[in-house]
Amino acid sequence: MHDKNASPVPPAPPLFTWEFAADPYPAYAWLREHAPVHRTALPSGVEAWLVTRYADARQALADQRLSKNPVHHSESAHGKGKVGIPGERSANLMTHLLNIDPPDHTRLRRLVSKAFTPRRVAEFAPRVQELTDQLIDGFAGRGEADLIHEFAFPLPIYAICDMLGVPREDQDDFRDWAGMMIRHGGGPRGGVARSVKRMRGYLTELIHRKREALQGEGDEDLISGLIRASDHGEHLTEDEAAAMAFILLFAGFETTVNLIGNGTYALLRNPEQRERLQRALAEGDEGLLATGVEELLRYDGPVELATWRFATRDLTIGGQRIAEGDPVLVVLAAADRDPERFAGPDALDLSRRDNQHLGYGHGIHYCLGAPLARLEGQTALATLLRRLPDLRLAADPEDLRWRGGLIMRGLRTLPVAFTPEG
Ligand code: HEM
Repeated sequence: MHDKNASPVPPAPPLFTWEFAADPYPAYAWLREHAPVHRTALPSGVEAWLVTRYADARQALADQRLSKNPVHHSESAHGKGKVGIPGERSANLMTHLLNIDPPDHTRLRRLVSKAFTPRRVAEFAPRVQELTDQLIDGFAGRGEADLIHEFAFPLPIYAICDMLGVPREDQDDFRDWAGMMIRHGGGPRGGVARSVKRMRGYLTELIHRKREALQGEGDEDLISGLIRASDHGEHLTEDEAAAMAFILLFAGFETTVNLIGNGTYALLRNPEQRERLQRALAEGDEGLLATGVEELLRYDGPVELATWRFATRDLTIGGQRIAEGDPVLVVLAAADRDPERFAGPDALDLSRRDNQHLGYGHGIHYCLGAPLARLEGQTALATLLRRLPDLRLAADPEDLRWRGGLIMRGLRTLPVAFTPEG
């Protein structure tokens, strides 16, 4: 806490610069201490409140007076296209989980939960292992690789395409569209909007084809599950199913890329923790892998800021008055380093126990894909460390570039070297 008798408050650090993207944590420490609910202009020009303390963040995430629906944004008339997924408005993708409130959210989430079950994810584990090994096969003999492009990026896109039931021969199109979205996430929107439109068009048609072909039980990919899911006689419409498939792809793709990328990077930068994990894996102990992936999410999680929320009435967060219509961004990365909640928050401790981090959000929008993300993260990191035991960074950390997007936090490239396999 700030002591009034101590030296004067240091000046506010700049936000959203390149230096900030490389290491936002000192700026977040300043905000938590001196301006825990802070109004700022975002790079897009939109003004929003940043919530950085753990207790406030957790409360805001569960506060139903904060709506997910951009119609509640006071600037929504002229702020069009400035919030949310690029291109989603033009592609009519508005009715997905991250943009709606109860009761619509409750109904859609219940329906998708019937299809996207922990059991379906568990049954998918062998396929994730197979995909992981195939991708590592692609570079293991070479002794060097860019782990973002060759590993972290393709794994989640192939995994979710497989799970949805996108035929293998079409999956490289998704890889290209997703590549366009991730490369230009914070930049020019034209190409991104086109990619979103193509994906949406493809998914709509695929859903239509699968609905026509559905006969009885059996055909058990996730899209068929979405079409079949019913609750008190209610089903998803084709439009809703397409929006749902799209949000599963969109929400589950760059996040998981960054879990694998940021996670591997954190392990390479913390050799004693990485050796601990390697020893545990060699002894067949998977416990440290499970707590370790949670800790990596807390320490440098993929989602820096939770997605948009808008005050539906005047309200107070952490003693700060927020006016109706104001956007609120909960800074998960700042909350998860709050010393009021986590002991030694800036240290990576793979065996951390009391670790209720907010990396997957909290409340009714808590990440639906967390079981799949955990499966992919754990499989990817364990397999990398087992197969390439002397994996090391092949670049100066100062030279690594972080993506400058608003919501996500992740590396553009992660050059590594290792003894070639076999
Ligand atoms: C929601 C994080 C992977 C699907 C969320 C939220 C967070 C998050 C923070 C809440 C956003 C908010 O409240 O504004 C992550 C992280 C992941 C990950 C860190 C990877 C490490 C996935 C995967 C999928 C997925 C693999 C699906 C395949 C979703 C969906 C929602 C969501 C559908 C919206 C839920 C709702 O609004 O009810 N995720 N996610 N996520 N996530 Fe994830």
